[in-house]
Amino acid sequence: MGDTAIIIMAAGKGKRMKSNLPKVLHNLAGKPILNYVLDTVDQLKAKRKILIVGYKSDKIRELIGDKIEYVEQKEQLGTAHAVLQTKKLLSDFIGDVLILSGDVPFLTVKTLKKLLKYHQANNFCCTLVSAILKNPKGYGRIVRDKEGKIKRIVEDVDLSADKKKITEINSGIYCFNKEKLFQVLEKITTDNKQGEYYLTDTVEILLGEGLTIGNIIVKDYSEISGINDRLDLADASKKVYQKILQDLMAQGVTIVDTNSTFIEQGVKIGQDSIIYPFTIIEKSTKIGKNCIIGPNSHLIDSRIGKGVKVWASIIEDSNIEERAKIGPYAHLRPKTVIKKGAKIGNFVEVKKSTIGEDSKASHLTYLGDAIIGKRVNIGAGTITCNYDGEKKYKTVIEDKVFIGSNNTLVAPVKLGKDSYTGAGSTITEDVPAGNLAIARSRQRNISGWRKRKKENKE
Ligand code: UD1
Ligand code: CA
Repeated sequence: MGDTAIIIMAAGKGKRMKSNLPKVLHNLAGKPILNYVLDTVDQLKAKRKILIVGYKSDKIRELIGDKIEYVEQKEQLGTAHAVLQTKKLLSDFIGDVLILSGDVPFLTVKTLKKLLKYHQANNFCCTLVSAILKNPKGYGRIVRDKEGKIKRIVEDVDLSADKKKITEINSGIYCFNKEKLFQVLEKITTDNKQGEYYLTDTVEILLGEGLTIGNIIVKDYSEISGINDRLDLADASKKVYQKILQDLMAQGVTIVDTNSTFIEQGVKIGQDSIIYPFTIIEKSTKIGKNCIIGPNSHLIDSRIGKGVKVWASIIEDSNIEERAKIGPYAHLRPKTVIKKGAKIGNFVEVKKSTIGEDSKASHLTYLGDAIIGKRVNIGAGTITCNYDGEKKYKTVIEDKVFIGSNNTLVAPVKLGKDSYTGAGSTITEDVPAGNLAIARSRQRNISGWRKRKKENKE
């Protein structure tokens, strides 16, 4: 078998998306559309891998990095024009060229291997992948003669009324003999409704030269569905999410409602965990066994130990150890660590803090840049004042401290082991171990005050 070069077309703006972001960078269930294609290509051996970029190419380069060769298509004049831009880069290359579209994300390695094998075994000048679709609208159609031989590909917009009914579509995936490909590309014109250089026109030209076109038909048409507009994107997302949920359920995770649960690829969840509705779990979040997550929770890039309960809360880039209880309505911001059995309750925000084993912050609290020991009780309404407008400061609360309700802890400050603070205190100085700190003005009761007020009025 000769060498293979892979070309991925991704220069288009994606007009039908009506977006300023290049189409292939739109997020599809957790990663850009283009990354699906690149991840597939990663699994194929090829001498050269080239990405054709154009519209906002700097954004694509920035995201993908230097794991692939780039070629710039300055003006997007059509798919044939796009492929032509690789001519120089491939001038020394001898072999076959596999052409993929950056907007066809579900194509499998298996199909691509099959295509290459079939193409090379038969020594075709071009082999294309097609599929039969119930709703072929928007795709180029494969026009065949009476004997069933391929005659040409006609784009949806260029179809005559009688050919609209053709259900066999062009997937936009092809394998070409390199020499033939660049010869035929030079011959393509813009004689069509869109005034573009169509790669699909290569088929009719090659056939006209007496050459044979190979063809494989994929059965699972969803594999080759392209994403052109936001509706396609939503349909594709649904497909990815449903597949992930099915895999999780097969591993022993309960998903109460598969329609309102969105879990990204790469998330791991242990057996007998239950995911309640309206929950989103993203990035490489890991959840242990026997957890209860949701309803209404959003977990991003976090590690959750076994037996944890997360109820109606948001957790970002944090570590939650086993048996901890979070929520309802808690917000754990990045670099938070909640140790075993700790509880973060109603309307509590925690940022870049460690909460020790079996400690509790049950209500209405902000803990930022704090290091909290074991079995600490944080009273309702406690606020760490960690920021003076310029710098951030630490609050250290040692084991078994009891913070009264509505305390203001002005950092940097340290509360020693077993210390205690009175409700409503503003703590500005360190509290030694075992001490009680009261930092509020004493209450004064003024007798007969109301009565005198009334009399003054009369
Ligand atoms: C293309 C095919 C169509 C096929 C469909 C399958 C052509 C003319 N038509 O149509 O037969 O059914 O794919 O999904 O090829 N691109 C460039 N530069 C350009 C134009 C496009 O790089 O000048 C890239 C796009 O970014 C995209 C890919 O090529 O990734 C396909 O382009 P798109 O405009 O989506 O083609 P379709 O109309 O879907
Ligand atoms: Ca397309």
